[in-house]
Amino acid sequence: MALFIFLVISAALPFCFVAADEDFIINTSKCKLPNFPAFSEETNRTHVPQNYTACTNVELLTYTKVVNNTAYLHIKRDIELLYRSPDEELSCYYSYVTRNGSEEEPDIGVSISPALKFNTSMRLTGDIVKVECYNSYALVYENVHNPITISKTVDEKLKRFPRVNEDALPISVLLIVVDSVSRLNFARTMPKTRNFLLDNGFVEFPGYNKIDDNTFPNFNALLTGLNLKQSNSICVPTKVGKLDECPMIWYDFRRLGYVTAYGEDWAPVATYNYLKKGFKNPPADYYFKPYIEATETLNITEKEGLPYCAGPETEGERILHLARDFSLTFKNQPSFGIFWMNTFSHNNVSTPIVMDEKMSDFFKRIRDDGILNSSIVMFLSDHGMRFGDIRRTIQGWYEERLPILHVSLPERFKTRFPGKYDNLKKNSKKFTSTYDVYMTLQDVLSMSVKGYNVTPSMACPTCSSLFSDITEERSCEEAGVPEKWCTCVGRFNKDETIINGRRANAAAGLALSEITRNAQEYEFVYVSRILSASISSGSDSHGYYLVVFETSTWSVYQALFKIRREPFGFLKLIQILWIGYSYEQ
Ligand SMILES: *[C@@H]1O[C@H](CO)[C@@H](O)[C@H](O)[C@H]1NC(C)=O
Ligand SMILES: *[C@@H]1O[C@H](CO)[C@@H](O)[C@H](O)[C@H]1NC(C)=O
Ligand SMILES: *[C@@H]1O[C@H](CO)[C@@H](O)[C@H](O)[C@H]1NC(C)=O
Ligand SMILES: *[C@@H]1O[C@H](CO)[C@@H](O)[C@H](O)[C@H]1NC(C)=O
Ligand SMILES: *[C@@H]1O[C@H](CO)[C@@H](O)[C@H](O)[C@H]1NC(C)=O
Ligand SMILES: *[C@@H]1O[C@H](CO)[C@@H](O)[C@H](O)[C@H]1NC(C)=O
Ligand SMILES: *[C@@H]1O[C@H](CO)[C@@H](O)[C@H](O)[C@H]1NC(C)=O
Ligand SMILES: *[C@@H]1O[C@H](CO)[C@@H](O)[C@H](O)[C@H]1NC(C)=O
Ligand SMILES: *[C@@H]1O[C@H](CO)[C@@H](O)[C@H](O)[C@H]1NC(C)=O
Repeated sequence: MALFIFLVISAALPFCFVAADEDFIINTSKCKLPNFPAFSEETNRTHVPQNYTACTNVELLTYTKVVNNTAYLHIKRDIELLYRSPDEELSCYYSYVTRNGSEEEPDIGVSISPALKFNTSMRLTGDIVKVECYNSYALVYENVHNPITISKTVDEKLKRFPRVNEDALPISVLLIVVDSVSRLNFARTMPKTRNFLLDNGFVEFPGYNKIDDNTFPNFNALLTGLNLKQSNSICVPTKVGKLDECPMIWYDFRRLGYVTAYGEDWAPVATYNYLKKGFKNPPADYYFKPYIEATETLNITEKEGLPYCAGPETEGERILHLARDFSLTFKNQPSFGIFWMNTFSHNNVSTPIVMDEKMSDFFKRIRDDGILNSSIVMFLSDHGMRFGDIRRTIQGWYEERLPILHVSLPERFKTRFPGKYDNLKKNSKKFTSTYDVYMTLQDVLSMSVKGYNVTPSMACPTCSSLFSDITEERSCEEAGVPEKWCTCVGRFNKDETIINGRRANAAAGLALSEITRNAQEYEFVYVSRILSASISSGSDSHGYYLVVFETSTWSVYQALFKIRREPFGFLKLIQILWIGYSYEQ
């Protein structure tokens, strides 16, 4: 939808200014980012506490174990009575799963080899194994495992790793991502995890702003420094094979000697597959999509419309297990891993709470494993919740734009590069964006690999590594954040003019006509209620008008207008910058 139309409102209406609540996260001349509470009466209305639900109450029957780089599959025969009655036999079969797409959809589809019977343990010759067990009557257990072993090519590559100098240890990078979670929603729904991170030296970035709407442009910006338009023209994700040539930083890591991994749950809508062609060749040394696809052929238990359970395990825990397994396997080697979870966070602001305990356990484990001592670990999201009841609130407008970002550095990094650590801490109080994370990843490469040259982000040449001294006075534009996603606008204050009803209605009407343009099914839809209308603080001449309204079909929209302040307290709506929907777009 083309929203860049200019509007002329015939009757400019006067407005008056309301004293702002002066609590800011960032308060500079170029950026006023207001602070909001994680918990309030308003946020409590959409926050529904709930508990973790397991996918099965019975102990898992099978597991895999890697010994001397050889993977074995085991049946726990000692608990098999949980799956059969005493007078029965339990027969188990295994098959290997392999990536096997078609010419047109090379990244979708797996083949499952014919099932063969085995008894208790067996040595695996394939990476992904599916197990099925039957008692006398039925299939009673099914699972898929993906143990991690070191392939010959990876082993060779690691032996040749070109260190910056003899005593420099390579710096590994581990990205743990939970989709669609704002910093404040993280505080609300995952307090245990957040407290663990804060108690263990993770640095939180409350001024971290997304650069575009949904996952693809934000994720790809993080990996390439490109904006959506550049990503679409350079990486052409809708054309088979083009993403393989996209300048993603994971290819640099891979080429320069790191072992790389990428895992993401909910295979059909994975970032590079939803409405896109995915990869012809696996984009990482360890690419877990075929495994996730295979798990999603098991019995699915949905939560909020997402495949929360795939067989006897949750998809979220499967991703966390892969992340730990990968990090442990390559603990003393240079590694770069991205592990992305969608299935307990994408569709509902409240559900991340179910995984709080598991997530904090994961971080405890990798701390105890020494992973925090060997890797830079980032815990982040791509954006906040983009639909649902959060659209009713102005805080929701900010939260959508301000995803989680926490960064942990190994102790040896801090002692070796104290200035960089110092900068990181200082930068956490500044305004930052997805492009800065891209620059940070390049910075890691330049610290670890001989001869790596950092190149500026194409979309944001002024963006820089979180280890560098980022300027304090920084505007959205300087951080590569387009106006419609910019949270540096101060606080929105209620439009208090006596005739504000008229202005709010005019604005809502304009937004609705933009929404309904070319959509006949909207023919009889009208604005039924203005939920709020407010004016940003900010500069003297320009500002923003945010109107939140409900329609006769019970949809809620947020519309952001650019406004010009005119003499005698009048203001003019000059442009619709953005419209947000209560349902997913
Ligand atoms: C924000 O900055 C302005 C201008 O420097 C200053 O007048 C104001 O007191 C600051 N507000 C807070 C809450 O620090
Ligand atoms: C919101 O909920 C939290 C925890 O669920 C509670 O501690 C707090 O008192 C509530 N706040 C308000 C303003 O209702
Ligand atoms: C979650 O579990 C606790 C402890 O078992 C229980 O007290 C609480 O009622 C449960 N909450 C919900 C929302 O089910
Ligand atoms: C581990 O595997 C290698 C190669 O397969 C073999 O040479 C070595 O003897 C094995 N070590 C042990 C302890 O089994
Ligand atoms: C891959 O899929 C094709 C077409 O479905 C099939 O003919 C082929 O046997 C499969 N390959 C493997 C290794 O299973
Ligand atoms: C299968 O394994 C169990 C336990 O290890 C053993 O008692 C049994 O004899 C084995 N059965 C066959 C057919 O090998
Ligand atoms: C999965 O669901 C099917 C159909 O409901 C059922 O027949 C099968 O036993 C289930 N599998 C397992 C392992 O529970
Ligand atoms: C990690 O490093 C810290 C500081 O050097 C040390 O105290 C701790 O024991 C290490 N943890 C592990 C699990 O190696
Ligand atoms: C989110 O889940 C909660 C608890 O199940 C439910 O009450 C709420 O309506 C859901 N919200 C949305 C937007 O689906």
